Amino acid sequence: ASNITKIACIGAGYVGGPTMAVIAKQCPHIKVTVVDINAQRIADWNQIDLDRLPVYEPGLPEVVAEARGRNLFFSTDVEGAIREAQMIFISVNTPTKTYGVGKGMAADLKYVELCARQIAEIATDDKIVVEKSTLPVRTAQAIRTILDAAATNGKDTQLATSRPKFAVLSNPEFLAEGTAINDLLYADRMLIGSEDNEDGKRAEQALADVYANWVPRERIVTTRIWSSELSKLTANAFLAQRISSINAISALCERTGADVDEVAHAIGMDSRIGPKFLKSSVGFGGSCFQKDILNLVYLCRHFNLPEVADYWEQVVKLNDYQKHRFAKQIIDTLFNTVSGKKIAFLGWAFKKDTNDTRESAAIYVADELLQDRAEIHVYDPKVTAEQIYGDLEYLQKHRRNDNPCTATQFSALSAVEIRSLVTVHDSPYEALKNAHATAILTEWDEFKGYDWQQIYNNMLKPAFIFDGRNILNRKEITSIGFELKSIGKG
Ligand code: NAD
Ligand code: UDX
Repeated sequence: ASNITKIACIGAGYVGGPTMAVIAKQCPHIKVTVVDINAQRIADWNQIDLDRLPVYEPGLPEVVAEARGRNLFFSTDVEGAIREAQMIFISVNTPTKTYGVGKGMAADLKYVELCARQIAEIATDDKIVVEKSTLPVRTAQAIRTILDAAATNGKDTQLATSRPKFAVLSNPEFLAEGTAINDLLYADRMLIGSEDNEDGKRAEQALADVYANWVPRERIVTTRIWSSELSKLTANAFLAQRISSINAISALCERTGADVDEVAHAIGMDSRIGPKFLKSSVGFGGSCFQKDILNLVYLCRHFNLPEVADYWEQVVKLNDYQKHRFAKQIIDTLFNTVSGKKIAFLGWAFKKDTNDTRESAAIYVADELLQDRAEIHVYDPKVTAEQIYGDLEYLQKHRRNDNPCTATQFSALSAVEIRSLVTVHDSPYEALKNAHATAILTEWDEFKGYDWQQIYNNMLKPAFIFDGRNILNRKEITSIGFELKSIGKG
């Protein structure tokens, strides 16, 4: 059994929070402390009202209720947690760089580097450092270099034998948001990459023992450290590639009269292809797919593999095309202008059952409609108005301009313009009242159960619905009188 009794996790975000909550739930004998420099986030994790945790995730409140205060703690005391722990997870954000070398492509490792420096600075005994964040291949080497160098820094080299020893492991996270608790409890696999030496193997065993408290041993996969790091980028690239592939076919379906859901069903029955991740949509979002593929592309260019880089970059370009196609269809259908027209958005999150909006297709579609001065009225069951305004404001500063299909002469909107054109509602019926069109951006289950007859009565005619998730029943909706435009239906 594991000799680990104290774990720290740096980064209390969408990954750090849920993963550590599940470790604490499944390992009552291990004290798990999750730390973050964002004091508000930590305060939110310590909320008595479990409906107000910073991450909305089905099943998470129950897990937190069970473990918090028992062996699960959320704190801003980063140093204290590092000092105490035998094993430290780094679960900080690794966004795409927005400046300097690799801008718009490479992963920004500054937060990870800071963690490594802080651990090196504070540690007085041996530590196992676990990369939980998604990182470019060979980052473990950089972390090791920092840990080793700083461990010597200013300390008496004569005491070399008493200096703390560090083991670095790669343990990428494969959870998907909206199903995180289930994904963690019943993981397809837990992947651990370790350095090829005795200390590495010992650390790998210690982490495997933690997971073995609930994950069957045969699902705990161990590899060399570079393979583990690269597996994470590859998994996300393959998953996103399936979506871009079916979305590419959706465009052809619309021209030819084929139905993309029928095509997906037919090909998915081939056991070699399989049915999952073939749902055509307005485009994938989320904090991972685009960032990780761009990071992979950057690595390929760095290692002078331009053909490989171009191959994967096309997955992101096709996704940009899909979002653009959806926005353009709205404008084209509404007689070539949406200026001054009320367009209702159902959904802002990047997928259902999460309050996360990072890279959500809704942001890009809204941005394009706002260029034409549409009046956008948004309803999302879990996303706040401030988040929505913040997303649009952020995009004005960080629009990627490398894609020919979206690099049209976009002009940046001011925060005031955004707030005058975009209204956020607490009620879907208010958002939809007197709208020229409805666009469905997220596949929230509740949208299907709305009183669509009432919505129709209160919309302007012709009443258009652009179903970016293909969730509505065509027969029902068109028999009410709606003009329904779906993805990939000719
Ligand atoms: P996040 O932004 O939700 O959380 C990261 C947290 O780290 C933030 O709260 C931030 O304040 C904190 N932080 C940053 N630097 C810090 C420091 N020096 N000390 C203490 N705290 C610090 O990010 P996330 O979605 O949880 O993602 C974290 C990592 O996991 C990323 O590398 C991501 O690629 C990877 N990942 C994410 C998902 C996902 O579904 N979100 C899935 C798998 C892997
Ligand atoms: C993804 C990976 O699935 C997960 O393993 C990894 O750890 C993090 O990145 P996540 O981004 O949380 O997880 O959600 P995911 O379910 O993969 O959906 C990503 C995007 O693709 C969403 O916008 C979703 O709506 C879209 N999607 C997904 C489709 O458009 N069609 C599909 O068939 C599946």
